[in-house]
Amino acid sequence: MSPGASTHTPRRVLFVCLGNICRSPTAEGVARAVASDRGLDGYVEIDSAGTAGYHTGDPADPRMRSAAAQRGYDLTSRARQVQPEDFHRFDLVVAMDRDNLSDLEDALSRAGTPQTSRARLRLFSDFLPDDAPVDVPDPYYGGPQGFERVLDLIEDGMPRLLEELLQE
Ligand code: 4NP
Repeated sequence: MSPGASTHTPRRVLFVCLGNICRSPTAEGVARAVASDRGLDGYVEIDSAGTAGYHTGDPADPRMRSAAAQRGYDLTSRARQVQPEDFHRFDLVVAMDRDNLSDLEDALSRAGTPQTSRARLRLFSDFLPDDAPVDVPDPYYGGPQGFERVLDLIEDGMPRLLEELLQE
């Protein structure tokens, strides 16, 4: 993976789930690790947020942090809710499931004219193979395997996502 020749301004990606304590902080942490491994620090800016504000200020869920740490990812973000400015600041806003996408579309139409906003809204599974699930399932109310599944799917899709972000 190599950044396009004209890519001097960083490309900005925002990962979004419901609470911003499980799936999107994991996507943020995995994206940082993949970008760093590939020498892309400075070419990409990575953040995450939730469509809801229940957990604002909280660290990632301890179960998610622990599963991520087993694979070498340090999840350090604090939860925040998506803000109208995010649709202008980020080039790509990636929803972890279809409910998140629908909530983002509603928020985008409340925030202003969709055509004038910079961000493109995508589903994370757009970057996964065709036989992958459409949604990255919410692990919050389930058992430990749900957190592993989140990591599996995010690790699978992240290289292609970063590649496409940089090719735009
Ligand atoms: P996330 O998971 O959207 O992946 O951060 C959830 C975290 C918290 C809640 C739901 C989902 N909650 O209902 O508090």
